[in-house]
Amino acid sequence: MERDQFNMEKREKIVLVTGATGFLGSAITRRFLTSGYKLRLLIRKRNYDTSPTSFGWESTIKELILGSQPNEYLQEQHSINGIWTNADESLYNLFLNNVEIFEGDITSSYLGLEKQEHKRLCNEVDEVFHCAAATHFENQQADELVTVNVKGTENMLQFASTGKQKRFHYVSTAYVAGKQNEIVYENELVDEEPLFNNEYERSKFIAEQVVIQYAKSNEIPYTIYRPSIIVGNSKTGATCKFDNIYIFAKVLLNIRNSVIDHKSENLNDISVRVPGVPNALINLVPIDYVADAIVAILKVKESINKIFHITNPDPPELSELRDLLMPVLGIKGINVKIDGQVEHKRLSAIERLFLRHTKTYYSYLFSRLRFDCRNTQGVLESAGIVCPAITRDLVKVLVDFAISHNWGDAKQTASQKAEIAC
Ligand SMILES: NC(=O)c1ccc[n+]([C@@H]2O[C@H](COP(=O)([O-])OP(=O)(O)OC[C@H]3O[C@@H](n4cnc5c(N)ncnc54)[C@H](OP(=O)(O)O)[C@@H]3O)[C@@H](O)[C@H]2O)c1
Repeated sequence: MERDQFNMEKREKIVLVTGATGFLGSAITRRFLTSGYKLRLLIRKRNYDTSPTSFGWESTIKELILGSQPNEYLQEQHSINGIWTNADESLYNLFLNNVEIFEGDITSSYLGLEKQEHKRLCNEVDEVFHCAAATHFENQQADELVTVNVKGTENMLQFASTGKQKRFHYVSTAYVAGKQNEIVYENELVDEEPLFNNEYERSKFIAEQVVIQYAKSNEIPYTIYRPSIIVGNSKTGATCKFDNIYIFAKVLLNIRNSVIDHKSENLNDISVRVPGVPNALINLVPIDYVADAIVAILKVKESINKIFHITNPDPPELSELRDLLMPVLGIKGINVKIDGQVEHKRLSAIERLFLRHTKTYYSYLFSRLRFDCRNTQGVLESAGIVCPAITRDLVKVLVDFAISHNWGDAKQTASQKAEIAC
């Protein structure tokens, strides 16, 4: 596989990254750093000063990208150039020498930057890696999804076409495919909007169409990455985001604990019906696989003007995942039944509780959507990168991390936070 100029000349190339404070963006940024790229991070400007306990993005960057300890940060009085005794020294030095941070907002004109600053960036940046997005599934906040995901992407494309010509990398989602039960191909061009599971999917679908059309008419070389459902690191379980399967696992554990605490029912008699079909495909991909795959793909010339499914070629079915999860959670005596009609049935208090907490994800429990990932596999084979299988051991690693980090809820200790870098 021929390596492109991005790789050959990486030390001279400058990459602007959005979303570096997020789950995937931080993992990618870490890999860019160790690959020797020069980085400009566009970080969302926030008024962090209003909360005395808020560490702001500097701390997030340290925790997620560098794995340093936030206590140090407090002693540094908010200085990004302070002494990070616990950070990986070589990574820290790479960061100091190769990263410039810009506070802005992808939804604002000039990306929320000073005009002069914006102009300088337009003229010096060679590649844009656009990973920032609003990632919630709350349909009530659809306006925000459109503003950040569609308008924000338009602004980033405009940036890419101003000044120096730039290559554009866009992180989409495999679920732009919406509610289908078929196989979806990477090269398929979708003319018609499919039915969507939520407004998040719709906003990402529109944004992807905007990327393709804008890039084609402005001759911008583009690459689109479509990950499926991202979970923690396959070796350590590390994650800073506890949504999707973590919510199901946490609710099941809470049900078990409350039943034991109240001794209100005999554990052996409990049956919890959950919505879905047993053979629904739950396409989970560990964060380290996703980040390694994306970085490997963007280094090859063949990735220009292509779409890549960063998906699991062998995803577990819903019933399999349940059978992996229950023993790992240590739950015995609760019979979790998958029932496509559950919503229309008379529910127990426990079932109502379960449904209330997991409602946002229902539709995915009925999906038989399969993702063809031949483009991705073609590149990854030569790079020696393989998607980890979703085994009981892997599920245990994910659950153990989540439990030891209180499902992302409680204040974490400094050393726990430092483990999160993926
Ligand atoms: N996680 C998944 O399972 C998954 C699956 C498929 C695709 N994806 C895609 O992967 C990308 C990253 O997802 P993620 O899970 O890492 O998301 P995330 O953790 O929610 O991070 C989102 C990032 O976007 C930034 N951002 C949001 N609005 C912004 C704005 N107006 N201006 C500048 N930055 C802004 C956030 O900044 P703050 O830190 O200031 O909030 C954060 O850095 C997204 O495009 C998402 O659609 C994710």
